[in-house]
Amino acid sequence: MRRQANITAVSHFVPERILTNFDLEKMVDTNDEWIRTRTGIRERHILEDGKATSDMGAEAVKKLLKQRGIGPEEIELIVVGTVTPDMFFPSTGNLIQDKVGAVNAWSYDVAAACSGFLFALAAGAQFIESGMHKKVVVVGGDKMSSIVNYKDRNTCVIFGDAAAAVLLEPAEDGLGIMDFLLHSDGSGAKYLKMQGGGSLHPASLTTVANDWHFLYQDGKQVFKFAVQKMAEVAATILEKNNFSGDDLKLFVPHQANLRIIDAAVKRLGIDYDKVMINIGEYGNTTAATIPLALSEAYQQGKLEKGDLVLFATFGGGFTWGSTLLKWGMDKPSK
Ligand SMILES: CC(C)(COP(=O)(O)OP(=O)(O)OC[C@H]1O[C@@H](n2cnc3c(N)ncnc32)[C@H](O)[C@@H]1OP(=O)(O)O)[C@@H](O)C(=O)NCCC(=O)NCCS
Repeated sequence: MRRQANITAVSHFVPERILTNFDLEKMVDTNDEWIRTRTGIRERHILEDGKATSDMGAEAVKKLLKQRGIGPEEIELIVVGTVTPDMFFPSTGNLIQDKVGAVNAWSYDVAAACSGFLFALAAGAQFIESGMHKKVVVVGGDKMSSIVNYKDRNTCVIFGDAAAAVLLEPAEDGLGIMDFLLHSDGSGAKYLKMQGGGSLHPASLTTVANDWHFLYQDGKQVFKFAVQKMAEVAATILEKNNFSGDDLKLFVPHQANLRIIDAAVKRLGIDYDKVMINIGEYGNTTAATIPLALSEAYQQGKLEKGDLVLFATFGGGFTWGSTLLKWGMDKPSK
């Protein structure tokens, strides 16, 4: 059997502070009912000022190492999916490497917005499959509150902060990542972007006056794209591998909007009890949603060794994709 990258630990970190729909009612012209029915979100978590994506990522990685019972010096590579790096450079991966004491690891970031975790996972898996590395950490994390305009009701109700991580190790018994399908379409850049502060529009009084240091989203266009693409890519990867929705134990979709998840679930023809949903508590945490939902599913005992698991995502860029795997961890001990 071919060597596959198996997830051997999964963990997450969520900041304590909660921002509810009722809190947002006091900040912008919105209401709890609108947010819940249009998105499925009740609350989201917000990281304190002075802390950044690497702080959340480092906490998730420390828990990961504890769960697996290994020291940080055993990590060989850290790949981080994020669009809210602490700073342009060094990479958030480098900062996490230092914060956890992974003295033997190299590290880098992958920018694919909400698809960041699946893109980073595919990258990390290649180093395991090739035999180059035996222990690779993949992190998905975003401090979305740092780029959200809390005066814009179109976007501020959607996003939250979190980070989550998985450890990849080689397996030769069919467990682990079996396949992935990832896509990019840069023509979608105009619908979901943060244009200020980059080399096109370096930070200036003008970029700040234009709110270009905040995320911009054309919600309707993103919705249309997401409903179609996430469902399509999830169905395609199953068909390609000769599986149907019936074979799935768990579907872990990107948590951006409950109505987008519904469309994918209908297309796959699976029961709702096979779908991991936690958007109500966290909102859209961008690169963190899938590993965060996976970590909670694992902790809740929803997964057993050998179960077929499907991830699917879409995000800014546009980017979208799906990953199919055979779960390779025993249930957590109680
Ligand atoms: C953003 C989103 C929730 C908006 O939902 P929607 O049902 O499409 O709503 P619309 O954009 O049609 O807006 C309907 C009305 O609600 C208003 N509205 C928007 N945000 C609102 C809010 N927070 N509270 C109350 N009303 C709001 C709009 O201004 C609009 O009013 P109008 O008809 O007077 O112009 C939805 O488009 C969406 O989820 N898009 C995808 C976002 C996403 O997944 N992003 C992450 C990408 S990874």
